[in-house]
Amino acid sequence: MTTLPILKYPHPLLRQQCLDIKVVDDTVRALASNMVDAMRLSKGIGLAAPQVGQAVRLLVAQVEEDAPLVQLVNPRLLQTSGELLWEEGCLSLPGICAEVRRASEVTVCGLDMEGKEITVEASELLAVCLQHEIDHLNGVLFFDHLSHLKRHRLLARYKKQQLSAANEK
Ligand code: NI
Repeated sequence: MTTLPILKYPHPLLRQQCLDIKVVDDTVRALASNMVDAMRLSKGIGLAAPQVGQAVRLLVAQVEEDAPLVQLVNPRLLQTSGELLWEEGCLSLPGICAEVRRASEVTVCGLDMEGKEITVEASELLAVCLQHEIDHLNGVLFFDHLSHLKRHRLLARYKKQQLSAANEK
């Protein structure tokens, strides 16, 4: 089994608006299953298709080992309520994290792996995760939600880390 590599910022694909998936077929199911493997291997709680180089609207999420696995095609935020601050990270931006303001409860609809319409209601961590992954499908990254100054500092730290990681190789 080969694991899909996860693209790192500033890869241009991470800024792309992803396309709807027309048919949920074996190709889509295989992509989802490979994304689940890549997410688990990296100890992530969510992953969006553009992070593995596919500009299509597909996300996977599993916030805890025994939590249900969410696999959603063409996910849409139907409803949001409440507000919270959560410290977020991203597998495409290793080594940095920041508090982001999000809705604390969300209702998301989309298609399951059989192509059937489903609705997922989520709160707390899963709600944060789903908002973060849906953002990815629109080319939005978590630092886009920060103030200009915080974003600038975070990205400066990220660049420095990437440079020193590259030098160690
Ligand atoms: Ni992410």
